[in-house]
Amino acid sequence: MQKRNCTTDYPMLLQQAEGILNTEPWYVAAMSNLSALIASSMEDLNWAGFYLMLKDQLVVGPFQGKPACIHIPVGKGVCGTAVQQDRMQVVPDVHTFPGHIACDSASASEIVIPIHSGGTVRAVLDIDSPVQDRFSAEDAAGLERLVRLMEEKICFL
Ligand code: SME
Repeated sequence: MQKRNCTTDYPMLLQQAEGILNTEPWYVAAMSNLSALIASSMEDLNWAGFYLMLKDQLVVGPFQGKPACIHIPVGKGVCGTAVQQDRMQVVPDVHTFPGHIACDSASASEIVIPIHSGGTVRAVLDIDSPVQDRFSAEDAAGLERLVRLMEEKICFL
């Protein structure tokens, strides 16, 4: 799919995210509504949601999109790499990312951001797009702010 100028209203998205997190910080409720908020606020996405650390691997959590891979080992794929390096991954072309895990063949680009609690990575935010190079520096900054807000408010119990 061709790249378009996709701009997201991040101040609005963050305000709505804060409302969700303030109403119910329990991670299942918060991540469910946050994935729906992201999917309805950003253009050209085919998957938006969360993977959670369970024991020593990632397990799929609340999301919007087609059914996805359930388990991702740390160090594997874009999500497992984000956990291993504890660093945001912005992948303009998933087909060039070594070990990319293709849950949906429509995915062309991806952004993954680690979410911390108690000093460790507890989850990742994962967003896929059918458009190559979909995620700009503005998206990375806006989504990073969303994750920092989640880290402040969310309750993993
Ligand atoms: N592409 C991811 C797997 C999860 S799906 O995108 C929902 C990865 O390589 O880790």
